[in-house]
Amino acid sequence: MTSVPDKISYVARIPNNVELSADRRLQRALEGWQPKFMRWWGEMGPTLATHDVYLRTAVSVGRDGWAHFEHVPVADYRWGIFLAERDPGRTIGFGEHRGEPVWQQIPGEYRADLQRLIVVQGDTEPASVEQQRHLGLTAPSLYDLRNLFQVNVEEGRHLWAMVYLLHGYFGREGREEAEALLVRNSGSPERPRILGAFNQETSDWLAFYMFTYFTDRDGKYQLGTLKESAFDPLSRTCEFMLKEEAHHMMVGTTGVDRVVLRSAQLISEHDTLDIGPRGGVPLDIIQKYINFHFSVSLDLFGSETSTNAANYYTAGLKGRWQETRRHDDHLLAGDSVYLDTPRADGSWGRQELSALLALNLDLREEYIDDCESGIKRWNRILAEAGIEFRFRLPHPGFNRGVGVCAGQHITPAGSTVDAATWQDSRQHWLPTDVDLALVQSLMQPVYERGKIASWVAPPSNGINGKPFDYDYVHL
Ligand SMILES: [Fe+2]
Ligand SMILES: [Fe+2]
Repeated sequence: MTSVPDKISYVARIPNNVELSADRRLQRALEGWQPKFMRWWGEMGPTLATHDVYLRTAVSVGRDGWAHFEHVPVADYRWGIFLAERDPGRTIGFGEHRGEPVWQQIPGEYRADLQRLIVVQGDTEPASVEQQRHLGLTAPSLYDLRNLFQVNVEEGRHLWAMVYLLHGYFGREGREEAEALLVRNSGSPERPRILGAFNQETSDWLAFYMFTYFTDRDGKYQLGTLKESAFDPLSRTCEFMLKEEAHHMMVGTTGVDRVVLRSAQLISEHDTLDIGPRGGVPLDIIQKYINFHFSVSLDLFGSETSTNAANYYTAGLKGRWQETRRHDDHLLAGDSVYLDTPRADGSWGRQELSALLALNLDLREEYIDDCESGIKRWNRILAEAGIEFRFRLPHPGFNRGVGVCAGQHITPAGSTVDAATWQDSRQHWLPTDVDLALVQSLMQPVYERGKIASWVAPPSNGINGKPFDYDYVHL
């Protein structure tokens, strides 16, 4: 049923299941890009030197097991190009080409738009590696250190995935864009990464867990919409990337779980919420981190109304989250939705929008629902510890740089206040320098097998059935 080999060959210089050896031109182009990638990894990748790390490597895309675990030196990791299996009967699920066979080559009129979508997605992958590069120096345990490197190498592989598409389908322009993906850098004043949230440094491990919970989750939703694409190689690429993303989500979700659990233990033990001096992260600081990471991640969905998003949908380039499970005409021409918009007098109005123009809003709402599940589980940990404090997601208008609430002064509870009031209260809503310094002071590396830092609880499960005290990393 598949037209591509299921097993990935690790003999080839670039492991792949796309029959790279049958396309000498493409193979040579990618072999030319590989040393540049390795140079980028050396300069912009993890700064902590390790001997080897217990890493997962993709070895198959089939249903029965796709990953292999072993200790490997990080620089010897085999980044490769893997697409999910091809469904030969797949048809386009939405837009004006609905029902037609999916595309194996790109129709000329959609070339520029598809290239842009792939470049924007591709740019986020190496950006996160750059943002997280110093975290290895302060890892709370070998288990966490291993997870950091796993996320990093897979984001590197996601870059490979996007570069394969650029090289394989977009000619010279695609090759130039592939080079530029290694030239832009997170936070660079001259050549920053394309999206704002990917130019912030991930400066501590609480930020890393929040990033993998909130910002990586945006990635999951973006990949979910590209998985629906009529351009089949993009769809299959994203489908496989989503398998790897599940681990990144797990790192974020259980990472915050473990911080909350440890904070709850310290609060009970010392009978105070002021656990900073006791080696824990106070709950109000965790809430401020949630406010920050959630609000900057919402900006990644773009403006609530977008003609680009509408055009991408109608053309079949980018669908909705779980498009095939939606019960409507998959054209959305006559449908409408409502958007809450802030009024000048501080109250909220409701605006009726064409569903087609509001696709970014649709995706953002799916994402927010998903984010709520984390809040619920973290509050359950507090409830079980008998602590009254509760976390909550801030209002979607809070601290926004993009969309109808950009430039408005909206509180986490959703009321509009004047600029001075907002500024005065900012310290209660977003991490202050003092908060960041406290968290930073807790970031003492623990590299001893089976040991863990003061501010986070050990995980309930290790990796691949191994215990927490397994030797995940050899330094
Ligand atoms: Fe990724
Ligand atoms: Fe990810």
